[in-house]
Amino acid sequence: MRYDNVTEIIGDTPLLRIDPAVHGLRSIDLYAKLELFNPFGSVKDRAAWNMVSPGLPDAVERGSQVVELSSGNTAKALALIAGMHGLGFKSVTNRMKVPEIKDLLLLLGAEIEELPGRTECLDPADTEDPLTRFHQALAESGGAYLHTDQYFNARNADAHAAGTGPEIVRDLGGRAPDFFVACVGTAGSSSGVARVLRAHNPEVEVVGLVAHKSDFVPGIRNIDEVKEVGLFDPAVYRQIDPVTSDDAIDGMLTLVRRCGVLSGPTGGAAYFGAVRHLRRYEDGLRADDGERRSAVFIVCDRIESYLGYVRKRRPALFGAESRGESVASVSQEEVAKAFSMDVAGARRWIAEEAPLVVDLRSPFAYAALHIDGSLNIVDELFEELVRGGLPFSRSRPVLLACPVGERSARYAALLTRLGHPDVRSLAGGIVAWRDGGGELVGE
Ligand SMILES: Cc1ncc(COP(=O)(O)O)c(C=O)c1O
Repeated sequence: MRYDNVTEIIGDTPLLRIDPAVHGLRSIDLYAKLELFNPFGSVKDRAAWNMVSPGLPDAVERGSQVVELSSGNTAKALALIAGMHGLGFKSVTNRMKVPEIKDLLLLLGAEIEELPGRTECLDPADTEDPLTRFHQALAESGGAYLHTDQYFNARNADAHAAGTGPEIVRDLGGRAPDFFVACVGTAGSSSGVARVLRAHNPEVEVVGLVAHKSDFVPGIRNIDEVKEVGLFDPAVYRQIDPVTSDDAIDGMLTLVRRCGVLSGPTGGAAYFGAVRHLRRYEDGLRADDGERRSAVFIVCDRIESYLGYVRKRRPALFGAESRGESVASVSQEEVAKAFSMDVAGARRWIAEEAPLVVDLRSPFAYAALHIDGSLNIVDELFEELVRGGLPFSRSRPVLLACPVGERSARYAALLTRLGHPDVRSLAGGIVAWRDGGGELVGE
């Protein structure tokens, strides 16, 4: 194998059959599409190259900067491609959540612009959102930027319709699998692959995986966030299932420890989501119909960048004792029992009892707009604090607020479990507060 350019190595990744002794499915062959073997390390190499390559000659002539709204694998691939062409790369984001990836981007020479966000992700309908405004400014910049626009650019999905999908069909001997399971970030890989598989077999069952609403799985969106993605079309998926960070780590550990695949969390989530779906399917078969079926899931990237992410959630894997309680251990019953207040009730309560108001959103979102007098403790930091025990005096009531009221309800349940007598969650979060006419102040 000889190449003249590293981009020629993108694609043509292996399809690995998972040992049935590992997954335990009786009648389904399960395959992993190993996108971690792409040269820049992920499924996004294909999309990044397909999106950026048509504009490169012009960008090189003008000295434009490559820009993308990404804090992960797309940014990594684009930073490398831009560098190879003598161009700069800027990653625009309102939240860099995985520190190793931020460090890697800096090492690659990327510029990182962390914008204050009113929302936690791009909302094209919100013209006041700094990220949306930035997006519009890029479109009007007259060539200073080469913006790859991964959430809206059809060439993202096309990269997978041209490569990933046909490779799967080829490696299955010219047939589409019966099931295809993929995590959804920009929806590029799942919708591009699904398009090809359906052309071979209109019955293929496509399962999209999104992060559980109150959880974070790096690289994929939750069900609310995914609706804001231009490439997302719900008709592509037979079913959209949530996965938690715990599911992702469980799946990842199986791939790493039993299959020799150095998968990252979303590969683990895809394995977990695939096996869960397929087990239900097998259970639903009235009798063994004697048919063998096949299923494919995508392993998007590698484990190394996520050691901190895993350590935080499973300290015991690194030989450390978990010191206290974690938000992941809160049950749905506890959340249902936690005290949530609507906006009108919260406004009255603040006026009458002056609770400590804790805003769990990112510092950027907080700096842009927050409830007057509130204290900002970003949720990851708050989780660390709570591991050490109750961080507030029991004598002062506490109102917790987050973007939409999901995460704050979990923390309210956890603080209640830790013995706080009066902690409440703002139902609907800062978004409901804003929509309900509550006053917000900026820095
Ligand atoms: C680690 C990881 N997994 C999954 C995905 C989802 O892929 P897509 O954007 O094609 O939906 C991404 C996208 O950035 C990712 O970085």
